[in-house]
Amino acid sequence: VTTAPASTTPIERVTIGLLGCGTVGGALAGLLHAQRSTIVARTGVEIVIGRVAVRDPSKVRDVDLPAEVFTTDTMGVVEDPDVDMIVELIGGVDPARGLVARALDLGKPVVTGNKALLASHGEELYTAADAAGVDLLFEAAVAGAIPLMRPLRESLVGEPVSRVMGIINGTTNYILTKMSEEGASYEDALAEAQQLGYAEEDPTADVEGYDAAAKAAIIATIVYGAIVQADEVYHQGISDITADDIAVAARLGYAIKAIAVVEAAGGGGDGPAEVAVRVHPALVPVTHPLASVRDSFNAVFIEGDAVGELMFYGRGAGGAPTASAVLGDVIDAAVNHINGSSARIGPLGRAIVRPIDELSSAYYLSLAVMDRPGVLARVADEFGRHAVSIRSMEQHGLGDEARLIFITHTSQESAVQATLAALRELDIVSDVHSVIRVVGDED
Ligand SMILES: NC(=O)c1ccc[n+]([C@@H]2O[C@H](COP(=O)([O-])OP(=O)(O)OC[C@H]3O[C@@H](n4cnc5c(N)ncnc54)[C@H](OP(=O)(O)O)[C@@H]3O)[C@@H](O)[C@H]2O)c1
Repeated sequence: VTTAPASTTPIERVTIGLLGCGTVGGALAGLLHAQRSTIVARTGVEIVIGRVAVRDPSKVRDVDLPAEVFTTDTMGVVEDPDVDMIVELIGGVDPARGLVARALDLGKPVVTGNKALLASHGEELYTAADAAGVDLLFEAAVAGAIPLMRPLRESLVGEPVSRVMGIINGTTNYILTKMSEEGASYEDALAEAQQLGYAEEDPTADVEGYDAAAKAAIIATIVYGAIVQADEVYHQGISDITADDIAVAARLGYAIKAIAVVEAAGGGGDGPAEVAVRVHPALVPVTHPLASVRDSFNAVFIEGDAVGELMFYGRGAGGAPTASAVLGDVIDAAVNHINGSSARIGPLGRAIVRPIDELSSAYYLSLAVMDRPGVLARVADEFGRHAVSIRSMEQHGLGDEARLIFITHTSQESAVQATLAALRELDIVSDVHSVIRVVGDED
């Protein structure tokens, strides 16, 4: 949005129906109010909140909106002829799905921050937006405040992106930062994150990787122009990571981070895009830009054949930061609405998502073995038999037992799993402590 209106240009008005006025919706109302004159001056469009649907209209809210705009009638807001555009900030799949679909059917642009909805029902909604020729914008759905969807959709639309790696869940990054900087246990770091409001009372969605999987699915869809759904994304949580893993990794020159990896895996051209999408803890070299992303911050690192390397960094959540991303979409959609245009996404075909077994990665492996002659050779033999080549190895004696730490070269997942299965069968191997992928220094 770059053109300032001539002084004689009449101000156009766009009326929003806001669905949800909680953490993000409330902050959006505040920002729209505070930025009103700037928005009018820069775009010639006045954006007003006409109606607001919430669960409990009697709740006291820190927003400068008259009581009469609040209602519980969500569909009434969507269908109100005075409402030009819908901003969905309720969250979850239902009732958001039906409300967004209805708005698009009515030809009303939609802005949403709802990753759960897009990662499960994006296909039908992108198709509906395309058919209606209206915007469906969702900058806030992935990495909160960070402008990511628009750069991916617009600036990088012609870029042959080979890989996107992201720290896209602030809760797990906060927990891993506490564990690495203060030596905290996973349990203590999680409890602190909960006290500070960074983690939910039930932290499963964050710590087991569901939240990041939904966001990774959306990134893959936008980068490769083909639908990937959250349930197609391999995800592994951080609850098995120990303070000891973090200390050993640090000694070897790595940070442990919860990483989403989205990669091209063949296909394209006239056929469907083939992609690899996964979310898991990973050793990242301390020299990699993602290793320095601390606390609850998010960052997304993009590798493209022409562009080289790019990194986007910022707040992945929080009322005001997320509302900032929503506001950018609202202004874009309002200006497009006035101009009768829209930012096209689809319709999109389905991507072929490669199963994790077929993917390759380097690995960090920590084993407890009997401390006696010939053990190392026997263990190394199992790696060789499965064509997993070892990049580095450390051995520490611990009385009758020894600890072996390996970093492998890039190897196929199925070969590494077969090696581990064989090692577990050996009576000289008493335990496989840790198996963590290594990303960012591929050979
Ligand atoms: N919070 C963040 O940092 C963040 C970051 C990125 C993306 N997002 C996304 O932004 C969206 C909103 O998140 P939030 O944190 O603002 O959520 P929130 O604080 O829980 O607010 C939800 C709002 O929706 C209303 N609501 C819930 N169910 C409803 C229903 N059935 N009918 C009508 N209204 C209903 C609630 O009404 P009451 O106020 O009456 O309860 C509340 O105003 C979600 O999709 C979330 O994933 C949030």
